[in-house]
Amino acid sequence: MKYDIKDANLAVQGMIKIEWAKKDMPVLSGILADFKKRKPFKNITIGACLHVTAETANLMIALKEGGAKVGLCASNPLSTQDDVAAALVKNFNIPVFAKKGESKKEYFSHLRAVLDMHPDITMDDGADLVGELHSNRLSQAKKILGGTEETTTGVSRLKSMAKEGALLFPVIAVNDSMTKHFFDNRYGTGQSTIDGIIRATNKLLAGSVFVVAGYGWCGKGLAMRARGMGANVIVTEIDSVKAIEALMDGFRVMPMTEAAKNADFICTVTGNVNVVGADVFKTIKDGCVISNSGHFDVEIDLVGLNKISKNKKELRNFVEAYTLKNGKTIFVLAGGRLVNLGSAEGHPASVMDMSFANQALAAEYVIKNKLDNSVHVLPEAIDRKIATLKLKSLGIKIDSLTKRQQEYMSGWKEGTL
Ligand code: NAD
Ligand code: ADE
Repeated sequence: MKYDIKDANLAVQGMIKIEWAKKDMPVLSGILADFKKRKPFKNITIGACLHVTAETANLMIALKEGGAKVGLCASNPLSTQDDVAAALVKNFNIPVFAKKGESKKEYFSHLRAVLDMHPDITMDDGADLVGELHSNRLSQAKKILGGTEETTTGVSRLKSMAKEGALLFPVIAVNDSMTKHFFDNRYGTGQSTIDGIIRATNKLLAGSVFVVAGYGWCGKGLAMRARGMGANVIVTEIDSVKAIEALMDGFRVMPMTEAAKNADFICTVTGNVNVVGADVFKTIKDGCVISNSGHFDVEIDLVGLNKISKNKKELRNFVEAYTLKNGKTIFVLAGGRLVNLGSAEGHPASVMDMSFANQALAAEYVIKNKLDNSVHVLPEAIDRKIATLKLKSLGIKIDSLTKRQQEYMSGWKEGTL
């Protein structure tokens, strides 16, 4: 079996992490048990490009139990947990091609190694596997039954491909399930981004000025959790509706160049490019800590920052100090890559339980249904089934509609009494 990981001797430690995560993934465990009986992926190869974490390991194991041959590479050069990669190879015979801190060249060679397995299904987080296939392995597209996509930025790239008529197979936008983005993007990113910033810097958030760029699903979670830590939170936006929402949620809203003047922390979560750029570096407060939790490392303009810096030095793991020509020093975390996965462990397993239940069921859905070559969402019934199973696993009961309530809600004749 071919694979490329940092150190196979880390497998014991990786196995402990996988088991630990599994305890908080009851919905995925239930799907695993069902897959084991039914083997829906018999004779199917799944090529996955996901963050190589303990939670992803549990997804890979569930797919393999369902009869799939799986291959895994990283969806970010910095997000791999090397011990987990080792455990997947050594204990589960799953080929993994990923090393934390891999170069760009290695990253793409790992994508190609997964494509060399000739997948029938692609499973992406950010659409790099689909991108590589459509750019350099077009002939492989005809074998693909469909793909699944985990994140907002990936879904946006795939929709652009579909709009241009370039997408050669159907893809399920896992991100767009309610049981994914309501929880993973909001509460997962909210908590794990704060975790990443704290693990990297050990700085106090209480009393600090914390700027969140983007008030989408991730930004809402991050702003909420930063406030919970006692920070004075400012939101920046380009969408007037989201800006009003942030304002009425009790945050200050202003342009980034203004916010940066007093910022102790700036964290971007927009999916957009150059959100912290040259104009911001001009006004930024001395000592500001900048990080990003959006999918790609494009939100902080590091090329521009290098140009106006006279010196760059790594002070701690994942903390680089840039001394600007104007004498100010600013700190960039995790090289501008996803801070929650670069300097922490990503979202907690309990939230990934629902995201990866969607991934597992989407993989089955895409091979069982004839879909056109565009971006699809999972049927609401599957989404709601995941929510029901999650509530059940948490021991939470809810009310159900009475017959009278059902009639009332579906009727129109009963108005003012
Ligand atoms: P979203 O579309 O819900 O929100 C993005 C927000 O950013 C929007 O409100 C948009 O108006 C705003 N925005 C765009 N350009 C901006 C700019 N220049 N300045 C300020 N605001 C701007 O998306 P989301 O689901 O919140 O995802 C955001 C990013 O985070 C994506 O790249 C997504 O793939 C990624 N993501 C990361 C994780 C993680 O683990 N770190 C998890 C989920 C999603
Ligand atoms: N994305 C965010 N957190 C993650 C995790 N723990 N595992 C896989 N992908 C993630």
